[in-house]
Amino acid sequence: MVGSLVATAFWAMVPAYVPNNAAVLAGGGRPIDGGREWRGARLLGDGKTWRGTAVGTAVGVLVALGLNAVVDPASTAVGVDLPTFELPAAVALAFGAMAGDIGASFLKRRSGRERGASFPGLDQLDFVVGALLAVFLVAPDWATAVFTLPVLVVVAVMTPLLHVTTNVAAYALGLKNEPW
Ligand code: CTP
Ligand code: MG
Repeated sequence: MVGSLVATAFWAMVPAYVPNNAAVLAGGGRPIDGGREWRGARLLGDGKTWRGTAVGTAVGVLVALGLNAVVDPASTAVGVDLPTFELPAAVALAFGAMAGDIGASFLKRRSGRERGASFPGLDQLDFVVGALLAVFLVAPDWATAVFTLPVLVVVAVMTPLLHVTTNVAAYALGLKNEPW
């Protein structure tokens, strides 16, 4: 029961988990805010680039399509009817995750936090909130079928744990400048 909820929650959120990690590897180039400041601080900062956002979104969508290709054997393997991603849902999950993270940087800059500063809570959940808002807006029928209340509860508990683990690992591997 809980196992099948975790399997569904994880599978459905992979297209939202991948983009931020892909952006870390792809980041660089022109910042989205073009260096502009607002009220004495950068609008978003150098950590939010066009390239990171585009590559992160594209990788998230491609991963969703890859999961679609193996959904039948994967469902059989775990004994759970895992969801297939409609294209609009895949795009919404991936882009929504990036947008949530960008929104968080906007809030970090407004609260005087420099690029890379941690904002506990926000850092762990910004992209989940962005991805879920986007997918419920763009593909409401798909989203309500997949993200039932129990699945949402599992997502809310599992995501911060996964986020902390992957970021500490990326930091230890030298891929990220901070462990958050
Ligand atoms: N990145 C990017 N574009 C994005 C998101 C991330 O280019 N939309 C890249 C940047 O190189 C960034 C790295 O991924 O430095 C890590 O992402 P994140 O931790 O979100 O950015 P920070 O540099 O910590 O900046 P902030 O304080 O604004 O979160
Ligand atoms: Mg950061």
